[in-house]
Amino acid sequence: MPDLSVSYLGMELKSPIIAGSSGLTNSIESLREIEKAGAGAVVLKSVFEEEIYLEYAEEMNKLGPMDNNLEFLDYYDYEIRQGNLKRYIQLVYDAKKALTIPVIASINCVSNQEWSFFAKKLEEAGADAIELNMFIRPSDLSQNSRENESIYFDVATRVASNIKIPLSLKISSYFSNLGGMIRDLSFAEISGLVLFNKFYSPDIDVENEKLISADVFSTDSDYTLPLRWIGIMAKRVNCDLAASTGVHDWKTVVRMLLAGASAVQVVSAMYIDGVGVLKELNQGLSDWMKKRNYSSIADFKGKLSIGNDVDPAAYMRVQFMRNFGEHD
Ligand SMILES: Cc1cc2nc3c(=O)[nH]c(=O)nc-3n(C[C@H](O)[C@H](O)[C@H](O)COP(=O)(O)O)c2cc1C
Repeated sequence: MPDLSVSYLGMELKSPIIAGSSGLTNSIESLREIEKAGAGAVVLKSVFEEEIYLEYAEEMNKLGPMDNNLEFLDYYDYEIRQGNLKRYIQLVYDAKKALTIPVIASINCVSNQEWSFFAKKLEEAGADAIELNMFIRPSDLSQNSRENESIYFDVATRVASNIKIPLSLKISSYFSNLGGMIRDLSFAEISGLVLFNKFYSPDIDVENEKLISADVFSTDSDYTLPLRWIGIMAKRVNCDLAASTGVHDWKTVVRMLLAGASAVQVVSAMYIDGVGVLKELNQGLSDWMKKRNYSSIADFKGKLSIGNDVDPAAYMRVQFMRNFGEHD
């Protein structure tokens, strides 16, 4: 039986397949099913920066500027346990009690406002690691790319200085110099990068001429963007890379590992096929390894990443060349 265990964010996982953050990782019942289906770890549903900040700002207003002192912080510490965020802290606590696999708490952040202290609360509740789902809107035209990018580093540094557990960043591909950004972030105080997040996208209903939401789930062909960037970056970074978006079958799990991912995150496939899909992914991976005589994931991880004996042009090529367009 091949050994599926991997190291991710300094933690030992029994499988590289992680249940990614979503509504399915928001209840203990569902988390138990996910563990039973063979996940190597879970990323809990995100708590949103706005929720943290709003509660903080409300308390600030209630108390006034004179109370912005250590006593206030003690009071706030008390308040936070009474407020909305209590539920999230409880989720982390309960998940840790119910599961044996690592529990990664997740914070969705969109700015470097005063919320990073909350990461400490999640550590205290028992989280094994924290994943920051970061998206600083590139559509804010008042900010240039450097200003936008510097927020990622500020937030990572600030959160990392508040906690002792490993920190990972889940990012989008919306950077002008994506390779440079992935490399530089990997040298910040983080242990992993998740490539990439998928967002709600707008769509247009042409019958009613109305804006609507596009399908929230990925398809099984959406994996090629993370695959490319994991293949390009895996040997050039100073942290683990986890693949996210479009992992629907075991072949894509294998693809991501061959490209150099340390782990893969799965969400849409669990919604579409049920959480039992995780079992199939593990089985497919194990069968493939057996057939190839691989006894551990280290035997083939990154075999097809740039830096090994692969043609870099295959990852870098972006334009359709003449011979792909000769059908017309
Ligand atoms: C219903 C739903 C809820 C999600 N909620 C979160 C969330 O709270 N935090 C987060 O970081 N990602 C969230 N995501 C994004 C997923 O974690 C994942 O990055 C994305 O769906 C791409 O992976 P997939 O192709 O396996 O679905 C959500 C996705 C879906 C479909």
